[in-house]
Amino acid sequence: MTSPTVPSPSSPSSPSDSVLVRAARQQPVPHTPVWFMRQAGRSLPEYRALRADVGMLESCRTPELVTEITLQPVRRHGVDAAIFFSDIVVPLMAVGLDLDIVAGVGPVIAEPVRTRADLDRLPELTADAIPDITESVRRLVAALGPTPLIGFAGAPFTLASYLVEGGPSKNHERTKALMHGDPELWSDLCARLAQISATFLRVQVEAGAGAVQLFDSWAGHLSRADYLRHVEPHSRAVLSEVAGLGVPRIHFGVGTGELLAPMADAGAEVIGVDYRVSLTDAVERTGGRYAVQGNLDPALLFAPWEALERRVREIVEEGRSAPGHIFNLGHGVLPATDPEVLTRVVSLVHEVSARPE
Ligand code: CP3
Repeated sequence: MTSPTVPSPSSPSSPSDSVLVRAARQQPVPHTPVWFMRQAGRSLPEYRALRADVGMLESCRTPELVTEITLQPVRRHGVDAAIFFSDIVVPLMAVGLDLDIVAGVGPVIAEPVRTRADLDRLPELTADAIPDITESVRRLVAALGPTPLIGFAGAPFTLASYLVEGGPSKNHERTKALMHGDPELWSDLCARLAQISATFLRVQVEAGAGAVQLFDSWAGHLSRADYLRHVEPHSRAVLSEVAGLGVPRIHFGVGTGELLAPMADAGAEVIGVDYRVSLTDAVERTGGRYAVQGNLDPALLFAPWEALERRVREIVEEGRSAPGHIFNLGHGVLPATDPEVLTRVVSLVHEVSARPE
């Protein structure tokens, strides 16, 4: 029963009492919460219409657009959280780096960062360089009411890869050459990126974001030894910067089956799992101490409904072995995805996971 003073988890009164935050904190929930990485974006016709004449980075710095684009999938799909519409390179742009996001390619850096002199032209980020981020988050938090907004940042390794390579890379060869060839410069570069990411996250949380996700999308390209020695201390620094702010922290990467334990132990409440590892294996690998997020293969959204439904039900079931489960994809929504399928998946997850209170 709902009383005026003790809010029921199924009708949260604030983001901190929402189903997503409760699941992240390993508290009882009325149903499994669900959101999708890249839920805002090209799978939605209303997004494509808004973005028709506006560049990606310009749209990320325009509060009216950020607010509208972030809200679109919440209205359409009934997901349990919004993800802030921005990009991992926005804070790099804010410190003055010359970069662009090229459609179909990704971030491209005009002058790659490979030497000590290059690092010297990468200043620290201060909150006053991103007043638009504060404004966008404030507007969103007001519009979302009890639905939490997930703030995010790129982790130092994934950001360093774009900076060192100059753009997206298949093999990360220049990045790994720097890591092993000049470990001191590598460490200083990652420390600077950790400061930038931590400030970007802190600004979002201080403006009202109810949870954060640190994306280390390309960490799965590293051996466990290299991750622990050259990357983990910097990601840990980012996560610890927001540790005292009272919001759960999600840590996610792709192909990180071998890294799940160190990534969780780096300072997260929730470990993101891609589709290559089952949630039950992820729970085992992280000692049953963390909530898990994932892990439907985004390609399965193209399969016949019966096959997709079977897999969604399995994932909800596997999620019951975790102390908390947030349903998501194993990576971002692919642009050609039928948005109606996403809406159906949200309803199905809510239906099959519903628990009597
Ligand atoms: O719903 C959401 O998740 C929206 C917010 C969001 C975007 N980028 C918007 C975006 C988030 C959380 C990101 C993070 C991001 N950006 C990551 C980490 C997540 C991941 O996917 O692993 C990475 C690696 C980037 C870098 C980046 N930016 C890439 C690889 C691309 C794709 C390039 C392409 O066109 O295929 C981008 C561009 C980008 N970021 C788009 C969106 C909606 C597409 C640009 C457009 O719509 O024109």
